[in-house]
Order: sequence, then C-alpha cells, then structure tokens
Amino acid sequence: LPRLAKKIRVVAKSPIRRITALLDEATNRPEIISFGGGAPSLPPAKEVVDEIIAQLQKNSLGASAYTGTRGRAELLELIGQDLKKYGGIDVDPKKEITLTDGATEGILLALMAIVDPDDEVIITDPTYLGFPEAVKLVDGRIVRLPVCVEEGCQPNLEKLKKLVTKKTKAFILLSPDNPTGRVVEEERVKAIVDLASAHDFWIISDDTYKHILYEGEHVWVSKLPKAWERTITLHTFSKEASLPGLRLGYAYGPAEAIDAMEKFKQYTSLAPNAISQLALIRFLSGDLKERYLRDTVIPTYLERRNVMGEYVRRYLPEAKTVKPNGAFYYFVNMRAYLNPIGMSDEQFSEELVQRKRVAVIPGTYFGLNGKQHIRLTFVSEPIHRIEQGLKKIGEFFKKR
Ligand SMILES: Cc1ncc(COP(=O)(O)O)c(C=O)c1O
Repeated sequence: LPRLAKKIRVVAKSPIRRITALLDEATNRPEIISFGGGAPSLPPAKEVVDEIIAQLQKNSLGASAYTGTRGRAELLELIGQDLKKYGGIDVDPKKEITLTDGATEGILLALMAIVDPDDEVIITDPTYLGFPEAVKLVDGRIVRLPVCVEEGCQPNLEKLKKLVTKKTKAFILLSPDNPTGRVVEEERVKAIVDLASAHDFWIISDDTYKHILYEGEHVWVSKLPKAWERTITLHTFSKEASLPGLRLGYAYGPAEAIDAMEKFKQYTSLAPNAISQLALIRFLSGDLKERYLRDTVIPTYLERRNVMGEYVRRYLPEAKTVKPNGAFYYFVNMRAYLNPIGMSDEQFSEELVQRKRVAVIPGTYFGLNGKQHIRLTFVSEPIHRIEQGLKKIGEFFKKR
C-alpha cells in the first residue's frame, strides 16, 4: 500500500459512529435500552413519505436528476419564507442560501470558506464532537472554552475574552446544545456578537436544534445588530423533520460566504440529493411543518424530557444536571457515583451495556471537560423504557 495521507492520524474516527454501529445491533436486540443515539425515533410526516413515492412514480426522471449546486429554486424560496416566518429574517434565497448535505457538510463548507491554516476556532468544551474534527480537516486550530453543569453550561464571557487572539477566526455557537441541551441566554449571545465585531471574527451558528425547544425562544443570531456580516448559520432537516437519512440541510449568511461555500460544494458533493429536495418542498409547503412540530415532535419529546428528568432525580439523586430547554439530551455529572468506585465515564458506559443492557455516551467524547459525565438521549425510547433504563443505572451502583 502506498503511504496514506498524514491527516488521517490527526483526525479521530467519530466515537459516536462506533456507538451507532453498536446501536444498530441494539435495534435487533430489544433488551438493550438505548439512551445513546442522537437521531429522532419518530417516523417522518406521512405527507412527506407519500410525496417521495408519488414523485418517483410520476416524475422518475426529474426526481432523480442533478439539480443546481445550491439546490432547487423552489426549495430555496420556501426556506427564505420559513426564515421570515419563524425568525423574522429577510434572506435573499438566490444569493444568501445554499443547501448542504445535512449540517455536517454545512460545518465543513463554512469552515473551508473562512479558515486558513493555523487560524483559531473557539468551541465550547464539551460540545458536539463533529466540530473539532472538522476544524482539523481545514488545518485550523481548536481553542476550547470550558463550560460546566454547575454554571448551567452557559459560555462564560470573561473566559471567552481571554481566549481571543489575533488568530481567532471564528466562534462556533451551538444553541440548543448537544450534548448539554443548554440554550444560550440572549444577553450572552449579544455579548459574543459584540466581541466578534470588536475583534473581527466569524460566528458559525449551528441551529440544528432551533425548533426542538421546550422553553423560551430561539435567538436568531444573524438578526442581532452587527451580526449579519459575520455570521454563517447552519440548519438541518435531520431533527425537526425526522429525516436524518435524507441528508439535507442549509446554510445562510452574507452572499460572499455562501458563494465560497457553493464553490467548494461543487467539488465535495456537486449537488444536493434531488429526491430529498422534493420531500422537503412538501415539508415546507402549507402548514405541514408547523403541524408536525406542534402535534407530534414537541409534545412527544417534551413528555420524554420531563419523565427522564424525574427519573434521573429519583434513581441518581447525587448526580448533577441541567434541565435541557432544547435538543434531545441530558448531560449528567456522575462524579458522585463514579469517583468513589474509581471508574471513568468510558469504563462505566461500557460496563453498563454489558451488565445492565443500557447504552449511554461517555461525556469525554464531547471534550475533556465532559469527564465523569454521561449523555442520555431522551428521544429514542418510550416512557416506560426510560424509567426502566434509569432504574437499571441506579441499580448498577447499589449492587456494588
Ligand atoms: C449539533 C449538531 N450539528 C450537526 C449535526 C449533524 O446533523 P446532520 O448532518 O444530520 O444534519 C448534529 C447531529 O447530531 C448535531 O447534533
């Protein structure tokens, strides 16, 4: 074998993908209670499924053809209307939006568009583990801002200011957050924008969970004063539409940045998936999205969030966590349980699957500050299994 690229040693394989393989196995083994994955467990809206079938039957050529790199004009237009409706934002669909293959491609294209080698990108620690590896792919440097459960996982402005240097190129803002479910307070977002403006760096706002919100309002970063010209916002249909496998999301921001992203997209994926675009046109037409979120997604996940919170308190009374106002997860500080028995979060997660058949994700996967924490997804199991799973976690510690 001729030598492979050096970068392979720099970028880590996603540990979550490893767990996903395990979780796939778990689907066939119903005895495993999974608090592990990050995917919705609801079926997509029936209208979307019907549309895919109908389009393939009546319009097979069009439904499987290449589209423009940014996507179909009709879908971009609907996204523009959606941003106006929910966020009050005026975005020019022709110039300021591009589709992406999920938020994953959005993250990479945004970084490709703004980062030069050795530029610094600030992320919180813990945070979504896709960020640091994408920064490495573009030869940027990762700078971590520690956040903790005890401070509600809010980014600390004073600490952030100390991390800003001449090399700072971007701050990645994720709200609601994965893995903590924390929603950044509006005043803090404003202060971050002011800091970005004063030091001339970008904000990448990953809005993956903007509609998966149980309390409060989403802060539309690009709408804040001084924000538009330095903000690239990413979104995805994976979570809100329960369509992760259709691989569709979008980015919006200043035309120059979106142009640059389009240029790179021509060589990473050429064009977005055509049939997914038709499905999303249906999702964004009429009031389907509004109904699906209001009648299905939010009530189902809100109930599961509340139930899981109750059982975390009941079965792990010494653990510390923040009630997630959004997203799919509880991030639980397990020090009180793990330190006395000398076990790391990784060892615990492994033994828990083996001994109790409950899958959780170790907190260290999201950054070193996530040490001795675990991430529990509450969307993937029905209520009665959420209780069973937490009870088993409690028993893990009792039986020792
Ligand atoms: C914060 C965040 N960003 C991006 C993604 C990637 O999602 P997708 O590529 O399916 O849009 C995820 C998925 O879990 C996520 O949690």
